[in-house]
Amino acid sequence: MAAAETIRAEDAPRAPRGDAGGLPARLRHETASLHAQVEASTGLPGSVRSRAEYVTLLQRLHGFHSAVEARLAHPDWAEGWARLGIDLVGHGRSTLLAQDLGQLGSAVPARPAVLGDIDSFPGALGCLYVTEGSSLGGRIIGPAIRATIGEVPTGFFESAGRQHPSPWRALTQALRRFGDEGGDADAVIGGARSTFLAFEAQVASTQAPAVAR
Ligand code: HEM
Repeated sequence: MAAAETIRAEDAPRAPRGDAGGLPARLRHETASLHAQVEASTGLPGSVRSRAEYVTLLQRLHGFHSAVEARLAHPDWAEGWARLGIDLVGHGRSTLLAQDLGQLGSAVPARPAVLGDIDSFPGALGCLYVTEGSSLGGRIIGPAIRATIGEVPTGFFESAGRQHPSPWRALTQALRRFGDEGGDADAVIGGARSTFLAFEAQVASTQAPAVAR
């Protein structure tokens, strides 16, 4: 079975984003080096060479995504999401992780990840940019993992049932509107940067916490 060692984001098809100006373009530009860093430190998809390694990866991702979903659902921010037309449920993916783990006969870890300082609505918007953006690469990573380790459930990576690219499009429209209305763009970028780093600490193989069996 051919091992798909490395896939680089810049080789992949571009995600739709309408006119590329405004806050979405700033986010992309100012977090590009962190994107490359997490790509390198996770080593995906080549770092998954067995079913057991795949289960460990999904358990760590579940710890991260469930922590993010709990934080973004903070009641103080509900009005902010509604005003920007963001439906948080549509952006959540921890359920897909739990389903994949269930099909693999594995436990869903109880301990959520430790997130960086996402303590403002602009910071939360930056955090959502990272988690929703990461689904774009997932559509490449899922098939590559199956090409290496055989038939495994990849509902999470392939965003099963999420009507791609609607969630991404809805988010880039909300980001553009937030920026155009004079929202705190620096705080959005700060939230995105600390979320990339929290992801790396939780998921990238070397420093990620061991998962309880
Ligand atoms: C490890 C392998 C990865 C691959 C192969 C990958 C690949 C991709 C691809 C193909 C895109 C779309 C690029 C475009 O439309 O121009 C993308 C976008 C994105 N990815 Fe990744 N990705 C990976 C990991 C990650 C991780 C771990 C995260 C976050 C934790 C992440 C966050 C993002 C974000 C935020 C975007 C949107 C960038 C934008 O503003 O257009 N990616 N990625």
